[in-house]
Amino acid sequence: MCGIIGYIGHRRASEVLLHGLSQVEYRGYDSAGMVVSSGHGMRLIKDKGKLRDIHAKHNFLQLEGGIGLGHTRWATHGEPCERNSHPHSDCLGKVAVVHNGIIENHRVLKEELVGKGHRFTSDTDTEVVAHLVEEGLKSGADAPAAVKKAVARLEGTYALGILIAGENRLFLARRHAPLIIGRGKKDEMFFASDIPALLGYTRDFILLNEGDIAQLDSRGAIIWGADGKEAVRPPLHVNWTPQMAQKDGHDYFMIKEILEQPLTLASAVSADVTGGVKLLKSAKYPAIVACGTSYYAALVMQFLLHKAGRPASAYIGSEYASWRMRGEDLVVAISQSGETADTLTAVRLAKEDGAKVLAITNVVGSTLSREADATIYIGVGPEVGVVATKTFTGQLAVIYKLVYTMNGNKAGLEELAAMPSHMQKMLDEVQGQVKQLAALMAKRKNFFFISRGAGWPCALEAALKLKEITYLHAEAYAAGELKHGPISMLEDKVPVIAIAPSGPLAAKMESNIRECKARGASMIVLSDDKSLLQEGEYALSMPAVSEDLVPLFYILPMQLLAYYMTLELGRDPDQPRNLAKSVTVE
Ligand code: G6P
Repeated sequence: MCGIIGYIGHRRASEVLLHGLSQVEYRGYDSAGMVVSSGHGMRLIKDKGKLRDIHAKHNFLQLEGGIGLGHTRWATHGEPCERNSHPHSDCLGKVAVVHNGIIENHRVLKEELVGKGHRFTSDTDTEVVAHLVEEGLKSGADAPAAVKKAVARLEGTYALGILIAGENRLFLARRHAPLIIGRGKKDEMFFASDIPALLGYTRDFILLNEGDIAQLDSRGAIIWGADGKEAVRPPLHVNWTPQMAQKDGHDYFMIKEILEQPLTLASAVSADVTGGVKLLKSAKYPAIVACGTSYYAALVMQFLLHKAGRPASAYIGSEYASWRMRGEDLVVAISQSGETADTLTAVRLAKEDGAKVLAITNVVGSTLSREADATIYIGVGPEVGVVATKTFTGQLAVIYKLVYTMNGNKAGLEELAAMPSHMQKMLDEVQGQVKQLAALMAKRKNFFFISRGAGWPCALEAALKLKEITYLHAEAYAAGELKHGPISMLEDKVPVIAIAPSGPLAAKMESNIRECKARGASMIVLSDDKSLLQEGEYALSMPAVSEDLVPLFYILPMQLLAYYMTLELGRDPDQPRNLAKSVTVE
């Protein structure tokens, strides 16, 4: 979703903003812009397209001054175009606003403001904020009072950055959308949608609460809580380094993040799960909520809990309200970003019903972690590629550790601890083969992924990875389901990828593979079983792992397949169209 960055200090603001925006590009966006204020007033550059293209066309660095706001927009209200790009300003060009979220009452506000003679130039919901601040200033309020008055009128979700010409300070506000303050070393302050945006400048942050409004000058911050009173918020020092958010010589973040999984897995396996085990042990009926890739991790957790004889249901975040039982006493929320609106809404509903909250996330200080009773951090470092890779395996590692610790499953914990080195060996063996396979597959249009048991969520995630970045049609089915419908789509040369480890499910998988072959499908078989591998037109030999760990292991070659096919098709695996890294609207 939209990326925001703000700066006030002794540097050229446009440089800091450009760098910061390039660090939040991964969040997904379709237009970008910035506003900088100097003694000569405030100037704004914005347009549709990629940051580097807008910069090449307009040169952001021509903007002089030490105070500014930057924004990457992921369109919600109004098509992506220059007019709808942020920052938005008031009638006089004296107030500039950047925003992430949705102002739900923007129509009513706009009507009211138009009635008072305001002229609007965009189709966005955001523009009302600039005009509301203008109204406040017109009525004689000083800058902080005008900002507070404007924010008090807003309904919906927002992370806001506000700049007022002639003011030596910046204003920000947040409600259900991420925004953090960064403290510079000397006479400079920052704010941004997320930590990686500011790692090049600081590792010291201040976390804002929901409903907070803040004022930044170069020496520090004044924060007002939702009750309007001045408030002190906790500092946060992170040990992420700027290098962790670099490509390390790779062409794309995605491949860097795939290949570093043996390392990140080692770190996830060492996560502290004590608080989580305590909550899980005392829960009678846990719900597991998550979206996208994290939902497939949630399915694996449900699988493990059921195997251990414990009730639990995995819910898609946005469906929780409709499908919940209302007797859930624990909600386990899985979210790499900790900011996904659908997941947070589900968590809040469960809390209203009296449930405790266990968060599994990668982002320290994220909204989810702050609303939870206990948090397990997966600790895999910043994930910059839009699609989830190392955060998925990190989530799985923590889930295995959590459930195995709860059950006292020592053998499981030992196998898990040995995974990083097995994973490295497997990656070394399969990477070249998968690259060749990708070259053969890139011209095909429809893909099916099948598996059984714990392999099924892995098939779902493999299909999701492929469609997210190649834009090709891919579907995943529990292998037994194929004959109940989708088999009608199988014809000559349609690739069917079977995740088919040895074990009790292998015989049934073999029958399913034969069914597909009989209809002319191109079978790609991933297995540790020689006879199953022989069934494939293409075969990827995998090491033997226990059934539980199949998703953790088999997803790696599937991530590689999606990545290399995307390169074959000439597309950008790091920033797929229409997708955002953290989706902060419902
Ligand atoms: C977005 C991302 C997905 C991610 C999903 C859930 O749609 O593009 O990759 O799986 O959000 O994100 P979360 O941060 O809650 O895990």
